[in-house]
Amino acid sequence: MAQPLTIEDLRILAKRRVPRMFYDYADSGAWTEGTYRANETDFAGIKLRQRVAVDMTNRTLTSTMVGQPVAMPVALAPTGLTGMQHADGEILAARAASKAGVPFTLSTMSICSLEDIANHVGKPFWFQLYVMKDRDFIARLIQRAKGAGVTALVLTLDLQILGQRHKDIRNGLSAPPKPTIANLINLVTKPRWCLGMLDTPRRSFGNIVGHAKGVGDLSSLSSWTAEQFDPALSWDDVKWIKDLWGGKLILKGILDPEDAEMAAKSGADALIVSNHGGRQLDGALSSIAALPAIVEQVGGRMEILFDGGIRSGQDVIKALALGAHGTFIGRAFLYGLGAMGEEGVTRCLDIIRKELDITMALCGLRDVRDVDGRILVGGKG
Ligand SMILES: Cc1cc2nc3c(=O)[nH]c(=O)nc-3n(C[C@H](O)[C@H](O)[C@H](O)COP(=O)(O)O)c2cc1C
Repeated sequence: MAQPLTIEDLRILAKRRVPRMFYDYADSGAWTEGTYRANETDFAGIKLRQRVAVDMTNRTLTSTMVGQPVAMPVALAPTGLTGMQHADGEILAARAASKAGVPFTLSTMSICSLEDIANHVGKPFWFQLYVMKDRDFIARLIQRAKGAGVTALVLTLDLQILGQRHKDIRNGLSAPPKPTIANLINLVTKPRWCLGMLDTPRRSFGNIVGHAKGVGDLSSLSSWTAEQFDPALSWDDVKWIKDLWGGKLILKGILDPEDAEMAAKSGADALIVSNHGGRQLDGALSSIAALPAIVEQVGGRMEILFDGGIRSGQDVIKALALGAHGTFIGRAFLYGLGAMGEEGVTRCLDIIRKELDITMALCGLRDVRDVDGRILVGGKG
């Protein structure tokens, strides 16, 4: 392919270069994938107002997310198994994010560990936490995050029980993977990926193996993760984690105004309107459809962040116009990573930055912090 110009170009390249079981793991949603698709398609129904003959010089995209300066209001979302899209994937993505001046969020279920990112990137990053039944492990993980210089904790609330993705089952994606014959044959067609993997020691869940009681290798990890996600997670646990952490806290996975109300009362700094990229409750609203009611419910009491379906700068600006203060991208950067490693994540961020900048200008604005409902057809400021 000539140089990738869109996130879709990066997706096509990633599909060519990443083994099928890991590409499918990223590019899929729960059950019928209806919510996964709606996350993207619902953006298309929102129309921007084109403005002319307004001064568009000296534009700026700089903003803040949870009080921290960002070069544009776009962060990399936490994604599990990122080091399987490309060898050392989390380190490469964190480097690209740091060069672009945007936050990188490491998942609990990452391949590279908290310490790997701290040692190999050397810039502050964010960490996403899943609450496991083993609360000692969680307490130690929070301490490790502090030791690694993490500047915001993202607590995910929408995955205490796993939504099912059919492709993962068909592909034998588990820990350790039990790939089908077809997937083993597929590996042979991805020499670049295989060489990268042979060259790195990081091929397991770096935050967990060797740290959780009874998890020393991949086979013990499998049973540990299966039973560790805690379906009893409650708002009391949110308070426990808030006190233990003591720093900036972001609650991820809010899709309903009643839960947004609980989040606002919890004292956390921000919430992320998210349906986990359509990977959990199939049949739920798309994130962009859910956003306005949550913004209204919260009424400025905490920062509202957003993810789900963002594939362009136009999508970013639409989320901002509907009241998000900042956004996260998941698959968009994973496609870049799978396609071209660190350079691909940089390319993804460049594409989104350029689209955001030009779109903002054509909507008649010069400062991303001024984006509001007035740029939407039928919207209010
Ligand atoms: C492959 C993949 C793995 C993910 N793993 C996690 C995770 O470990 N923790 C988490 O909070 N969210 C996880 N998510 C959800 C993302 O953080 C984010 O909510 C979602 O990707 C946003 O939608 P988008 O991919 O359409 O941008 C994952 C998403 C994907 C695509």
